[in-house]
Amino acid sequence: MKSQNYIVEELKKRWPEIDPAIIESSMEVPKDRKLGDLAFPCFRLAKQMRKAPAMIAADLAGKLEADDVFEKAQAVGPYVNLFINKKWFASYVLGQIEEADAKNAFGASEEGTGKTIVLDYSSINVAKPFHIGHLRTTVIGNSLSRILRFMGYKTVSINYLGDWGTQFGKMLVAYRKWGEEEKVQQDGIRYLVQLYVRFHDEAEKDPSLNDEARAAFTSMEHGDEDALALWRRFVDISLKDVSRVYELLDVQFDSYKGEGYFWDKTEKPIRILEEKGLLKDSEGAKIVDLSEDDMPPCLILKKDGSTLYATRDLAAVMYRKETYDFDKCLYITGLEQKLHFAQWFKVIEKMGMPWAKDLVHIPYGLISLEEGKLSTRGGNVIWLEDLLKEAIAKTKAIMEEKNPDLENMDEVAKDVGVGAVVFHDLFNNRIKEVTFKFDEVLNFDGETGPYVQYTYARARSVLRKAEAQFGWKKEALDKIDPAILADEYSQELIRILESFPDKVSDARDKWEPYIITRFTVAVATAYNRFYHENPILTEDDEVRRARLYLTEVTTRILKQGLYLIGVSAPEKM
Ligand code: ARG
Repeated sequence: MKSQNYIVEELKKRWPEIDPAIIESSMEVPKDRKLGDLAFPCFRLAKQMRKAPAMIAADLAGKLEADDVFEKAQAVGPYVNLFINKKWFASYVLGQIEEADAKNAFGASEEGTGKTIVLDYSSINVAKPFHIGHLRTTVIGNSLSRILRFMGYKTVSINYLGDWGTQFGKMLVAYRKWGEEEKVQQDGIRYLVQLYVRFHDEAEKDPSLNDEARAAFTSMEHGDEDALALWRRFVDISLKDVSRVYELLDVQFDSYKGEGYFWDKTEKPIRILEEKGLLKDSEGAKIVDLSEDDMPPCLILKKDGSTLYATRDLAAVMYRKETYDFDKCLYITGLEQKLHFAQWFKVIEKMGMPWAKDLVHIPYGLISLEEGKLSTRGGNVIWLEDLLKEAIAKTKAIMEEKNPDLENMDEVAKDVGVGAVVFHDLFNNRIKEVTFKFDEVLNFDGETGPYVQYTYARARSVLRKAEAQFGWKKEALDKIDPAILADEYSQELIRILESFPDKVSDARDKWEPYIITRFTVAVATAYNRFYHENPILTEDDEVRRARLYLTEVTTRILKQGLYLIGVSAPEKM
């Protein structure tokens, strides 16, 4: 139980004349902590009790005598301001944390037990650059899947590959005409992208190439083995290349079934649409009319009978429902696909699928580099792998200056460099557009990944020193004196730590990892104040042990918070 709920229960006992429902629903936290830890407004009682709120407040305050839980109660106008006993608060909250840790982990829950959530994220396009635009879907999806598992859900992470469509006809033509095997071996996906760019250049001079590409794609659709074998190679090369990025980011998928898997499995949704009379002819193409829903029609089949992005999504979601029987299916993509998802979610609803309500589009805003907007076409693409490597290299340079003797320099530079990029990406709400500036991302003093990681590493180093100097070992709460943690810095830190479970469920309710990111910053800031104001490794045995207890709890919660946003916590840096 949260400390505030416990207090409410106590007040119900101490103020038996007051309607318990009112006590429960009116408790406030004063803006200014000096006014009290909690405040109880008496306006709503005035009518019932036929007394002025200020008089009620004075009465209630008078009845609350100082004890283990309450330090004092003060009537201020119509409010009873409550001051909570600090020793009680420390011991209560730390006790709750210890209890939760003994069972599972503080902040974890069983909310999701028995439920499955499918997450569709990263979903890269084969033979196209894996650029920093795809960073956001990847890190948001990874963080949400970690948060969900922490809350007991079973998750299925799907990388829904963009591996089907006319562009593969172009790739086939380009490869057959100009492809050099050696370069494929050497440069992988980057070489494929070059070939693709070359195709567009040449097709401008010679438009017949486009006809060839169309024919090549049709041959794929007709099951031409040569064409399909080559296509499969493009997929493999792309996957092999991006796996390096996934490794850096520590991101894993349960399935890579993408558009190429579903393009010829669309009979089922199409049959249902036909049976329900939802499929309409439109200049030879087949559409679902959505004018009643204020949306443009959803295109299902082209004139030549081939499927579209939306058709394949219909087939894929039906497969997912059958295979995983999901409770929710999340799609994490850029905001520009909002209409696409709104349209086909509506189509699923019209098809009479009761689970249409379980489909969620989770959009995010654009990411751009300092220099200007990212371009997907043309030469100035920023490959995610390059960006991450640069972050690592820059971090290493900083570390070599700050801490040249650090062991595992490369490992730490990787954790911090990559962590900084991920952290920065998850620092604001999803929809906010992000500008990527290296100076900001790698700043060790701002509200950044390195700042939080550094705080963690420093707290861990305090614990190591305590071990070496004083033979310290992690202790049980009943071995320390919580009265030592009654100072304002310890109390503030404990207050923030207590909010962790709420932050986790809030992040889940809103599908917003940034809530966890901000939480880690708040913990780090509160810990740093605590650390500066309260010498930890003092000679006073009782004081030292209490502060070490709080330090140890802080490190674990901080590490867990970072884990939930996909950032690792190095022991030293
Ligand atoms: N491959 C697409 C893109 O990069 C994203 C796919 C999202 N998932 C889906 N089921 N449509 O834009």
